[in-house]
Amino acid sequence: MHKNSLLSMKDLSKDDIVHILSDALLFDSCYADWQLPDAGSLVANLFFEASTRTHYSFESAELQLGLKAVDIAIAGSSVGKGESLYDTLKTLEMHGYKALVIRHSRERYWDELENLKIPVLNAGDGAGDHPTQCLLDLLTMQQEFGTLAGLNVVICGDILHSRVASSNKTALELLGSKVTFAGPKEWSREGYEWVDFDEAIPEADVVMMLRIQKERGAALDGVGDDSYLEAYGLTKDRYARMKKTAIVMHPAPVNRGIEIDTDLVEAERSRIFKQMYNGVLVRKAVIKRAFGYGPFEGENR
Ligand code: CP
Repeated sequence: MHKNSLLSMKDLSKDDIVHILSDALLFDSCYADWQLPDAGSLVANLFFEASTRTHYSFESAELQLGLKAVDIAIAGSSVGKGESLYDTLKTLEMHGYKALVIRHSRERYWDELENLKIPVLNAGDGAGDHPTQCLLDLLTMQQEFGTLAGLNVVICGDILHSRVASSNKTALELLGSKVTFAGPKEWSREGYEWVDFDEAIPEADVVMMLRIQKERGAALDGVGDDSYLEAYGLTKDRYARMKKTAIVMHPAPVNRGIEIDTDLVEAERSRIFKQMYNGVLVRKAVIKRAFGYGPFEGENR
């Protein structure tokens, strides 16, 4: 696998994360118009699962960096004739693509890609990892609090099927935050510290809500969409009991009225749309790194 690939938050050191976040911030200020010296290079985006934010923010980032972004239509490709993922991607490498952005339902799909010579950026693998979502989450928290060390983050909802939960657990613990989990016990994971949501809310700096991932089979006996909000969601009452400095986050897509009251999606302390804005900045930083460029203040290749 190419050394500049980004597959899992477990592959990044503290310094790597600091550099990516620092570059992302610079892309929002003095480096807003910066383009890669490799401008014009082809990048392939392969989304085997549905996506709006990740797919189109990667595309926006690629275009802003001067790259040629190409969506590979999975439905019309030879994947449907039984071609392996590796053979499909190796074909794109031979066609001159310089990097691949991939979302796939199979966890660790990259285990079969060892012989690829171009970097792979993981845009989500099943319930495994979602590194660029995690990085934009970290950027949003850093902008809010100045530091991630010592933050108290509560992640609530469908933890079992969530790649966002696992990536954030890895990164937040590495960076010195306290991270706990809440929601239906049926959706807990071994090794994840579980808390009562109502007890955790007044102490949290960040309340991160997650969607029920029905596409991965998530379902609860006796709890339908209509009763989930009161039982496990962010209601107006729970929002009112948050610290005045605390923020609400959600990777989205949001199922309004299920895991979060619809009026809270754009509440004063919600950073949900800010997270989406940050998605382009972080993905620009990750693509720059994939092409072999070091952090802006340091240098190159
Ligand atoms: N947060 C996220 O990954 O959203 P999409 O599925 O729309 O990309």
